[in-house]
Amino acid sequence: MAEVNVNLGNRSYKIFIDVANKKIIATLMQNMKVNQKVLIVSDQNVGNLYGVELKKQLQQSGFIVELHCISPGEHSKCLDTAMELYTKAIVLGLDRNSTILALGGGVVGDLSGFVAATYLRGIPFIQVPTSLLSQVDSSVGGKVAVNHPLGKNLIGAFYQPKAVVIDIDCLHTLPDRELFTGLAEVIKCGVIADKNFFMYLNNNVQQILDKEPDALTEIIRRSCEIKARVVEQDEQESSLRAILNFGHTIGHAIEANTSFSIYNHGEAVAIGMYGAALISKYLGLCSEMTVANLKDTISKFKLPLSAPECNITELFALLYRDKKVVDNKINWVLLNEIGQVSICKQVPEDVVIRVLKEITVPNKIC
Ligand SMILES: NC(=O)c1ccc[n+]([C@@H]2O[C@H](COP(=O)([O-])OP(=O)(O)OC[C@H]3O[C@@H](n4cnc5c(N)ncnc54)[C@H](O)[C@@H]3O)[C@@H](O)[C@H]2O)c1
Ligand SMILES: [Zn+2]
Repeated sequence: MAEVNVNLGNRSYKIFIDVANKKIIATLMQNMKVNQKVLIVSDQNVGNLYGVELKKQLQQSGFIVELHCISPGEHSKCLDTAMELYTKAIVLGLDRNSTILALGGGVVGDLSGFVAATYLRGIPFIQVPTSLLSQVDSSVGGKVAVNHPLGKNLIGAFYQPKAVVIDIDCLHTLPDRELFTGLAEVIKCGVIADKNFFMYLNNNVQQILDKEPDALTEIIRRSCEIKARVVEQDEQESSLRAILNFGHTIGHAIEANTSFSIYNHGEAVAIGMYGAALISKYLGLCSEMTVANLKDTISKFKLPLSAPECNITELFALLYRDKKVVDNKINWVLLNEIGQVSICKQVPEDVVIRVLKEITVPNKIC
């Protein structure tokens, strides 16, 4: 089993990564100071695949368990569904020592974490992430949220789980496109912090795409470690944590400009990373070779490099509507070399427009 510690003082926790790992959950909970009542939150896809089995296993260990499945998809990450979960928690009589366990992708994790953070001003929360994206990104770091009709993740909190249990086996049922989505965040981790890890990804493309357990364990372990080390230094995103947004400034604009219907998050971030690398090159921050390396890696993992459906004027306007924009200044995360990025608030508009043109030309989807 691989383990990653997230060191945050009295909010510290461990991430456990293994095959057939769901079996440790009951023991883990028996060792925690929680009571018998557990609300497992899942979505209908994941709940049908793994929820019933997990419920049974926890019941056999003496827990009183309810499994609640929400409708799959981003539309469920809202206050209405949160209200549904609060009602469930009240009816079940969950108290401050009861547990909410999130079994699913980032939607389930963010929503359940938000409910766990706010129900009775906070009750124990365990993440069992089942999509690659949630295993390498959303389950680590304590950002929990629901969406508002006017914007994503606008209502939320920082709330750390008691533990994260990652079962590699879950990835066998994950649709390929969702795997590629998660791989964009994995590539991002290498680019922002670890050249050797970036090389590992390039040397193990087929093993990763074939979902070989050792390769999956390694990419999840290393991505979690990289994110954990950043979060430990800046839990509430006052400075360093912003580097995790590499590729996201343009990525978010692409998602919004295509009404969240053409590109999923990782695909938009992949294009955004390429865009950020091009900006870096035009500002003389990184070499042509560095951009070529990143471009090549993005393609190898079946992710796109351009979004021809986007409109440049609209994209440009959307960049300034990102919630991370402060005083009308975009916090660009730019590339110095693979493994090292820096924050820049001054990117000339003509450079941005030039890059938006490049990343909206057709025929670059690999
Ligand atoms: N909190 C954070 O720091 C953070 C970071 C990144 C993303 N996010 C959030 O995460 C969400 C996206 O997460 P996601 O990509 O996991 O989306 P998701 O939760 O919608 O899952 C994607 C799809 O995969 C299915 N699925 C998940 N695991 C499966 C499995 N093992 N087998 C079969 N199907 C499975 C789900 O039912 C869903 O249909 C967004 O809401 C985003 O805002 C949060
Ligand atoms: Zn992301």
